[in-house]
Amino acid sequence: MKIAFIGGGAMGEAMIRGILGKGVAAPKDLVVSDVSQVRRELLSKEYGIRTLADNKGATKGADLVVLAVKPQNLPPVAEEIKHPPPEQLVVSILAGGTLSKLCQALDHSSVVRAAPNMPAQIGQGITVWTATAETSDRQRELARSILSAVGREIYVAEEKYLDMATALGGSGPAYVFLFIEAFIDAGVHIGLPRDMAQEVVIQTILGSTSTIEKMGKHPAVLRNMVTSPGGTTTEALAQLEKGAFRSLLLEAVAAAHSKAQRL
Ligand SMILES: NC(=O)c1ccc[n+]([C@@H]2O[C@H](COP(=O)([O-])OP(=O)(O)OC[C@H]3O[C@@H](n4cnc5c(N)ncnc54)[C@H](OP(=O)(O)O)[C@@H]3O)[C@@H](O)[C@H]2O)c1
Repeated sequence: MKIAFIGGGAMGEAMIRGILGKGVAAPKDLVVSDVSQVRRELLSKEYGIRTLADNKGATKGADLVVLAVKPQNLPPVAEEIKHPPPEQLVVSILAGGTLSKLCQALDHSSVVRAAPNMPAQIGQGITVWTATAETSDRQRELARSILSAVGREIYVAEEKYLDMATALGGSGPAYVFLFIEAFIDAGVHIGLPRDMAQEVVIQTILGSTSTIEKMGKHPAVLRNMVTSPGGTTTEALAQLEKGAFRSLLLEAVAAAHSKAQRL
């Protein structure tokens, strides 16, 4: 499979690393076009792939073209690669931008819209994706193979779930990082050395998420297992409920969803 990347920044590189690492394609089958000479040199040196400063040229002969530029760079890029051959699949990982807008900008019908997230950079991402009705089963399998190279993927038939996935998984790492930061500060506040607080917090989060996966139980059931009557945990949970922890999170995700819909 021949794959062209338009944009070889953080996410483009993550996908290239994943695709090569998982053997989805060989270096000779990948090409990246990027305006940045620094990025081109880095990518060709690091991965032994062809790099160009010519977006249209990069797409020639590709089975699949990944759009990995920032959303504000889409209009000129779409203009350059407009009217691709009908059999070429275009996969956009841009935040926002509906399938119909992408199809219109590219004058093309075989388009996949994917919402990956930042942990894709270490192969631990979650990507929710959808495709136009015109994409073939083979093209969807190609899309699946590159998206699963950077973590888990979920195909959805209804595009409305993409903005929801962006609010949850796309922006989600920032919520988790903020939570972790505050959790560490809370440990420091009660007197733990900062490095110890960080180690305790990170392992607590890793251990808790692994427990959910391994035990296959609902988080509320596991929370009850940690909450002894009259104990320390219930004291802390009472404060979190008093501060409207859940409804704050609910409102935060709803705000991100609303913004994603407006992009
Ligand atoms: N990073 C994430 O965690 C993440 C998660 C989900 C989705 N995404 C989406 O993935 C896309 C890429 O994000 P990113 O973080 O990889 O961005 P990035 O690091 O800025 O990479 C974009 C690359 O495209 C280059 N570029 C700009 N204009 C171009 C043009 N006209 N033709 C070719 N290349 C061009 C940029 O060069 P310059 O830097 O010189 O402009 C840069 O090297 C975004 O649309 C974003 O919404 C990212």
